[in-house]
Amino acid sequence: MLPVSLSFENISKAYASPVLRSINIEFKAGKVHALMGANGAGKSTLCKIISGLAAVDKGSMLYQGQLYAPTSIRDAESAGIQIMMQELNLLDDLSVAENIYLGQLPCRYGFVDYRQIERESTKLLNKLGISDIDPRRKTASLGIGHKQLIELARTLVRPCKVLILDEPTAALSAAQSNILFEEIERLKQTGVAIIYVSHRMDEIERIADCISVLRDGNVTASEESGVLTQEEIIRSMTGKTISTDRRFNKRQRSKIAVRLENLSAGDFLQDINLDIYHGEILGISGLMGSGRTELLRCIYGADPHSKGHVELTKTSKDSPGHSPQSSVKNGLGFISEDRKKLGLLLEHSVQTNMSLANLLSYSAHSGWLNKSREAADVDRLIEQLAIDCSGCDQTIKELSGGNQQKILIARCLLTECDVLLFDEPTRGIDIQSRTMIYELLNNLALEGKAIVVVSSDDAELSQLCDRIAVMSNGRLADTFDYGEWTQEKLLSAAFRFYSTDSAA
Ligand SMILES: Nc1ncnc2c1ncn2[C@@H]1O[C@H](COP(=O)(O)OP(=O)(O)OP(=O)(O)O)[C@@H](O)[C@H]1O
Ligand SMILES: [Mg+2]
Repeated sequence: MLPVSLSFENISKAYASPVLRSINIEFKAGKVHALMGANGAGKSTLCKIISGLAAVDKGSMLYQGQLYAPTSIRDAESAGIQIMMQELNLLDDLSVAENIYLGQLPCRYGFVDYRQIERESTKLLNKLGISDIDPRRKTASLGIGHKQLIELARTLVRPCKVLILDEPTAALSAAQSNILFEEIERLKQTGVAIIYVSHRMDEIERIADCISVLRDGNVTASEESGVLTQEEIIRSMTGKTISTDRRFNKRQRSKIAVRLENLSAGDFLQDINLDIYHGEILGISGLMGSGRTELLRCIYGADPHSKGHVELTKTSKDSPGHSPQSSVKNGLGFISEDRKKLGLLLEHSVQTNMSLANLLSYSAHSGWLNKSREAADVDRLIEQLAIDCSGCDQTIKELSGGNQQKILIARCLLTECDVLLFDEPTRGIDIQSRTMIYELLNNLALEGKAIVVVSSDDAELSQLCDRIAVMSNGRLADTFDYGEWTQEKLLSAAFRFYSTDSAA
């Protein structure tokens, strides 16, 4: 029997309403314990309680047999409990090495020993498969996947007996996820207790030793891995049986909505030629850094292009002033992959965040906003997307990660755009809500909208799309029509324009 590392004894926690109700749970040394549950079920809250970031209302924790009541993240870290949080928490203005060592920067003669942290960071980055990143580089310049790996590196340089990973693979490529899983295996062998939060069933099946499911503040299932079937896990999460593998029928595409001609942007995009049609869902696949996000941003005008054209059928060829403003005017909507940095106003309400891009349509001739119509639309979307919030006035920093993501999707839907560009739309969204979002996108495509979805999950694209375009090293490697693609074909296209060295 492996020793219990950390246990919850009747822990309760409420915000506006109860989140955890008298929870008992044990985390064992040398085991990966997966925590599952719908968006808003309380998984991150549970992790924050262990890390000293949220206080309990009732109950206690035992850690290595002793009462444990951290009041700050420093308490937790010095006790050997490390957390990689769901939302990135790096300081953008610091270098990669400084972020990794923040809070424990080594000093020589009263000065930070930069040579040492840079040397050690280089070793660590190599180990995590990101040897192309200079540890002196400003963190702000990194993409979201690399930032997530830097967060992982941060936890690895600290003494660790309990490691909490709250949706660690949300922005990682398959290859990077594999590196993470190898690290997890290594830590397990040294007796670390790992608490692993994820919505991805395949990962859980692969690495979890036991699984606990949260619903309505209670633990609704807790078993050794392999005991529960996928259906049983979903039922424990939702209280009902739902089908998650529905494949939508092929839709009929109509006229061209956007035409890309020789589109190039610096080193990131080279000579992309692609037509996007009304009535279709076009998937964009490719490795992280292959230009998927850059392509969407260029179509939207969020980044400039250096050559070629983005031709929107509503207007003629773009002018040099192609910008998010002109895109909005032309009926383009965009949700970015980094919701905290680029999308949401965390201090504002659900309603403000949702209707932000659509205020013009709510303003009457008098100049006043038609508040009741706005509220009615917001309420409708809260219901349609099953957003777990106390109402449209709630501040969104109080919402769980998955529910914040749903707000971004809702914002895009409210704008009634003709062309919707989604970058990783279901990141952090639970299985049931994911199915609802697929349904919504399907309906929008049937109405004739053009939908483009970037996703690192090829299974998601296969389920959802009429066509998949594959990016490779800034170029469009291939496009596959419905029925033409296989996982092997998608992967081989994704690697096409990399040399074997840089493809790993
Ligand atoms: N600071 C806060 N103030 C008020 N309510 C909060 C706060 N933090 C979390 N909540 C609420 O607690 C509930 C649980 O949130 P939590 O973030 O733990 O969910 P989760 O299971 O991690 O969900 P997700 O899968 O979306 O990440 C949600 O209803 C959320 O709105
Ligand atoms: Mg969470």
